[in-house]
Amino acid sequence: MRMMRLVDGRRFFSSGSCSLEQWNGRKMPPAAVVLCFSTVLQVPSTVAAISVWRLNASALIFAEPSTRLMPQDDLLPTVHVDLIQATQILNYIKSSNNPTIDVFPSKWRLGRSPAPSVAYFSSRGPSSVFPSILKPDIAAPGVNILAAWSPKAPPTLIPRLDNRSVAWNFQSGTSMSCPHVAGVVALLKSAHPHWSPAAIRSALMTTAVMADTSSDTILAGGTLKAADPFDIGAGHMDPLKAMDPGLIYDMDTQDYILFLCSIGYTEAQIRKIVLPNISPININTSCSEVYSDPDLNYPAIVISDLHTALTVQRTVTNVGSGAAIYFARVVSPQGVHVSISPHCLVFFGEGEKISYEVTVIPLKRSGGRYDFGEIAWSDGYHRVRIPLVVRVSTHFAIGGGSESDEAGITNYIQLQ
Ligand SMILES: *[C@@H]1O[C@H](CO)[C@@H](O)[C@H](O)[C@H]1NC(C)=O
Ligand SMILES: *[C@@H]1O[C@H](CO)[C@@H](O)[C@H](O)[C@H]1NC(C)=O
Ligand SMILES: *[C@@H]1O[C@H](CO)[C@@H](O)[C@H](O)[C@H]1NC(C)=O
Repeated sequence: MRMMRLVDGRRFFSSGSCSLEQWNGRKMPPAAVVLCFSTVLQVPSTVAAISVWRLNASALIFAEPSTRLMPQDDLLPTVHVDLIQATQILNYIKSSNNPTIDVFPSKWRLGRSPAPSVAYFSSRGPSSVFPSILKPDIAAPGVNILAAWSPKAPPTLIPRLDNRSVAWNFQSGTSMSCPHVAGVVALLKSAHPHWSPAAIRSALMTTAVMADTSSDTILAGGTLKAADPFDIGAGHMDPLKAMDPGLIYDMDTQDYILFLCSIGYTEAQIRKIVLPNISPININTSCSEVYSDPDLNYPAIVISDLHTALTVQRTVTNVGSGAAIYFARVVSPQGVHVSISPHCLVFFGEGEKISYEVTVIPLKRSGGRYDFGEIAWSDGYHRVRIPLVVRVSTHFAIGGGSESDEAGITNYIQLQ
């Protein structure tokens, strides 16, 4: 343990914000740990770290709203705390003649597992290009990932000031979550070499979770609301469950071609994507068949403009070992009635495919809002869950009438 001096950063900067331009000329005591607030003039932690480092401080305690808490690489040892903790620290500094802080070596705390939350900077759905495909598909770890780092680049990426060279560094972003998913895809492919890319995605999506093992709900970072499919897709991936998903929503090249046709690609454009001439199998790139986009056998159903009753089809393939009976459980999104047919799927063997239909009937206008539900098939052991996302059209007329209220029209115009 080492005892260090704890100081209030506001004493050293004229406006109270820890930024070097505001330094009031006061000398920092030796071996000082400085408390700085992000909320005073919106100073980022990197600026606060550089500023107190320049004043020869030893470490920084940086306070920021809990929704933004994200430790990052700094020039000097930094602890990030939320505003409630920071206020307690500040009260202690004010009430003591000689405030100090004890620094201990770090240690593991086992047995606590709060659910992860979606990073505030994570990109959100719906897909603006194609609303009837759920985006994102899936969530995976992407904050503070210890990853390889070029020894030529300083860990803070600040040239000249930071001359350290490291082989490992903490990083955050899609660049970190994507390799987690790619690694799990590689595992799934080695366990199931014959699965198509669509089957692998289906296994990942239908087994993903919206809560952790203690049923603590995953929150959407940046807010304190529970994550919905536009934050997290089908959920947080669960590699072990994905190994044995029970059923998969499979697709082949032809399905993708028909989908591209339905969203307006020409045959010439599609031929450039699928390269039929060098493909080992004979691929038909003709766009003559009529196809409606919600029928792509995607492991999610998104209906972005429901005017009237709509029926969507999905086909599941049994990848469990042998015969199985699955029953459906539906959670209807608010404002719609959902029915599923058949309600029970009986498989006699592995590889067998069965189609089912989902009919969604609007009951009330939703003012442009999307509502969330799910369809889960279970055989008592596997749970094969897909998100069901519906936005009732503001042109849908309640009770068969044709008038639309002004607020509804305004919303509709804003969203177009
Ligand atoms: C920091 O420490 C160096 C070396 O002891 C000293 O020259 C410099 O004046 C100090 N800077 C401040 C702002 O106190
Ligand atoms: C980092 O290295 C450069 C070039 O060698 C040097 O000019 C600079 O003073 C160094 N900075 C620190 C903080 O040591
Ligand atoms: C190619 O697919 C279309 C439907 O998209 C079908 O009408 C046509 O007969 C198929 N051609 C061949 C050679 O199979």
